[in-house]
Amino acid sequence: MWRREGYCLGIESTADDFGVGIVSFNGKVLANVNDVYIPEKGGIHPREASRHHAMVAGRVLSEAFERAGIKPKEVDVIAFSQGPGLGPCLRVGATAARALASYLNKPLVGVNHCLAHIEIGRMIGGVKDPVTLYVSGGNTIVAAFEARRYRVFGETLDIAVGNCLDVFAREAGLKPKAGKPLGAVVEELALKGRKFIHLPYTVKGMDLSFSGLLTAAISLLREGRHSLEDICYSFQEIAFSMLTEVTERALAHTEKGEVLLTGGVAANRRLQEMLRNMCEEHGARFYVVPKEYATDNGAMIAWTGVLCYRYGLITPVEKSFVKLKWRLDEVEVPWI
Ligand code: ATP
Ligand code: FE2
Repeated sequence: MWRREGYCLGIESTADDFGVGIVSFNGKVLANVNDVYIPEKGGIHPREASRHHAMVAGRVLSEAFERAGIKPKEVDVIAFSQGPGLGPCLRVGATAARALASYLNKPLVGVNHCLAHIEIGRMIGGVKDPVTLYVSGGNTIVAAFEARRYRVFGETLDIAVGNCLDVFAREAGLKPKAGKPLGAVVEELALKGRKFIHLPYTVKGMDLSFSGLLTAAISLLREGRHSLEDICYSFQEIAFSMLTEVTERALAHTEKGEVLLTGGVAANRRLQEMLRNMCEEHGARFYVVPKEYATDNGAMIAWTGVLCYRYGLITPVEKSFVKLKWRLDEVEVPWI
């Protein structure tokens, strides 16, 4: 069934991004178009984000075809992000994918979003078998391949680290500026911090908890005794040390030779620095996925769609319902 030549179109819509990627079977990204929903204030409202996705879907799809320079009928496989994510958002992507697949009479592939983050990172970076740290607004996962699956070695027990940074930033009255996400605004302030303030450091076994850190940082803000720069600095030092500790233990346990950093928070220089130092000590290669492929994007869904299709992992329409809590370690990975 496997043909060398071909294209897969992938749709990403788990949260605030609606993305469409077109990737060739041999791993060339022909298009990766994204439209992000920006709430007027506060965090993402799933219903409003899904309305945004429905509004932009047609335009993002045609832009992707235009950039790729191919016609819809030239696509061989349609992939979509089937979960985990926000129900209303996932449903828009799934509906678009089903409509396309049945109209074009092409196979449909439901892709696990977390798996896609790892697979695009491996492909783009030429990384073989890494310990992955995937850190974003909705996820905090340390994973590595073992016995046919990506096993989750550590994860957050409550909120994701990106969400923790965003809530803290909003409490501090910070606003995303000039296209900079809130995490990047905190990063900029942290560079000017000088004094380290102790905040809760919570690693339980291999899992992490960020809610105590968030609550303590917010109380510090309200107390007004410390500068915002010092709080941002201390907050990052604690949160990123926790992530580095768990990643290091997973690396030591699995004896892998590579660490892959991905997700929106991967853009943070301080986090990169801590992990890079840790990797040097272990003689491991460290790879940071470039932003275009580290944040949510359609190309990662398309590429994982190619991998699944190669191994006959096709999703019949009647089994294409979205899976809001679909875990990474539930997915069999036959290609490694
Ligand atoms: P997912 O659906 O995978 O959970 P997401 O919708 O949260 O993803 P991403 O773009 O992957 O989207 O991640 C966004 C998060 O990354 C936000 O919490 C944002 O503040 C954070 N972020 C972006 N840049 C930086 C940075 N330089 N430092 C720290 N955090 C950052
Ligand atoms: Fe994501």
